[in-house]
Formats: sequence, structure tokens, C-alpha cells
Amino acid sequence: MDKKLLFIDCDPGVDDAAALLMAAAAPGVQILGLSAVAGNVPLERTLPNTLALAAFMGTEEVPVYAGASGPISGPAITAVHVHGEDGLRGHELPPHNLKAREETAWDALYREALAHPGEVTLLALGPLTNVAIAFAKHPRLPELLKEVVLMGGAAAVPGNVSPAAEFNILADPAAAEAVFRAGARVVVCPLDVTEKSYLTPEELEELAGQGSAQARYFATVMGETVPWCQEGYGVNGAILHDPAALMYVLQPGLFTGKKCWIGVETQGQVSRGKTVCDAFSDAKKEPNCTLVYDVDRPAFGRAVLDIMARS
Ligand code: RIB
Ligand code: CA
Repeated sequence: MDKKLLFIDCDPGVDDAAALLMAAAAPGVQILGLSAVAGNVPLERTLPNTLALAAFMGTEEVPVYAGASGPISGPAITAVHVHGEDGLRGHELPPHNLKAREETAWDALYREALAHPGEVTLLALGPLTNVAIAFAKHPRLPELLKEVVLMGGAAAVPGNVSPAAEFNILADPAAAEAVFRAGARVVVCPLDVTEKSYLTPEELEELAGQGSAQARYFATVMGETVPWCQEGYGVNGAILHDPAALMYVLQPGLFTGKKCWIGVETQGQVSRGKTVCDAFSDAKKEPNCTLVYDVDRPAFGRAVLDIMARS
């Protein structure tokens, strides 16, 4: 069976780290490149974290590219209160000697899409700044990509950074709006589905006991978020926002989605960064994405454990 070709844009970030560890362990996947974007923590941290993760997950040969150091417009925000100043909640990764490539994230993504027309899935796990720049600089890119699967937005649930907005969208609303407008095949994994995509305390314990350093690291950094998930989301477990978007790429059958139109509020006072979804309004807006809104949670948990058991 041909491998799934994946290019991952991320802002590690502990759940980005978990998603990358899972992508490296997953069967049938070839990671063409990793790119870092400013998000959870500044690029000065997300880039070194991405390099350290590439080494830790045993994919030293996968090139790592630097992307944008801030949004294409508006103020920069971070989530250091969740991920810590270093972005990995103080959980240092082993030393390595990897260096980022000279090529920018957006040029590397375009080169890979040209080399594999219609075959590359772009997995976007952070603010969409790099993706928007890539689409603006390379107008053919949206059609060349197989699809863009992104973690971001909130359709029928409240935001997590503001009452209206989810972090990845609010971090760069103009970029997100540009991505939804670009004509690419977009699959959105918003909080509506990622809040349901969690590991129970028992599953976290099984993960920690699997034996590999990568599984232990995943269980540790995500296990520390359980109290925050319990208090903030009422979920007794570790919510896996970014791993959920990756799992959609690996096993889409675990999820339920629907075609719909999404627009991003870029100007609002209380609603800036809101992903406005038209599911059944009189406006009957032409769908521009697949909105994923449900997951088979037990099957998701089992799949995460089965994949990480290979690490
Ligand atoms: O809102 C959750 C998203 O924002 C995740 O991608 C997390 O890593 C942060 O980037
Ligand atoms: Ca992220």
C-alpha cells in the first residue's frame, strides 16, 4: 500500500509533540518535512522544539524548516500558561545536532507539493500563518495539495482562548480566513471534536507503561494537562487536540464530518477569531471545507495506544 505523504506544520507545544511522536510511529506514513511556526510559544522556541522532536522520534532524516515568527497581521499571542516558557512544560528532550534547513517553510511545502502533485497532505497544527504565506506566494499550491487537515476553530462550542475563538485561529485570524478562501480541500478539526478526543487516566497509565521513551514522554506531558482538562472542559482525561487532527489523516473512519462553509471573523471586538460556520442557514453559503464534529472516543483511545506501542 502506498504511504501517506505528510508535511506537518506545528508550534510545539506539548500536544504538537504528542502528534509528532504519533506520526513517527504510525505505519504507512512518510513525513516529507516539518515546519515550525510561532504559536504556543515564539518561533525561537517552536523551531528548536521541532528539531529536538525530529531527533527524539528517530526521524533525523526528515528536514525541518523555519516559518513565520508572528501573525501576518494583528498582535501575537502565545499559550505559555499551558505549554510553559520552553513550550514543552520543562520536559527537556535529548541533545542532538540537527539544524533547520535554509529553505523557508512555505517554499519547501510548495517544492514537495510540486514533486508529488495531488498526494501530499498538509497537517497544520498551529496558527495558519505559514500556510497563508505559502498560498499567497505560490497560487498553484492549494490545487497541488491532496488536502489540508487542520486543528483549529470552534463551530458549536465556545472558544478556548476567548469566549468566541480557539487558539490557532485567534493567533492569526487573517491567515485562517485566507486559507479558507484559497480553494484547497480543507478538513477542519475544531474544538467540537478535539474536546471529545482524549485519553482516559487508565489509557494514560497504559501508555506510560508501554516501555518506549517516546510513549513515556507522550504520557508525561499530556498527563500533566488532565487537571486543566477536568477543570476547563469537564473531561476526565487528557484532551489531544493536535493528535486528533493527525488521527483524522490516519483513520478518518473514526470521525464524523460534514461539508460546510466557514468564515473567520477578523475584525470583531468580542468575536475576533471566531470560525463562523454555515451548516443550514438561509444564506446557503457554498461549502469550503469538511467540518469534523464527532469521534468514536474509545476507538480513538485504542488507536493512539496501538500506534504508540510501535514507538
Ligand atoms: O487550541 C488548541 C491548539 O492551540 C493546539 O494546536 C495547541 O497546540 C495550540 O496550538
Ligand atoms: Ca499546536
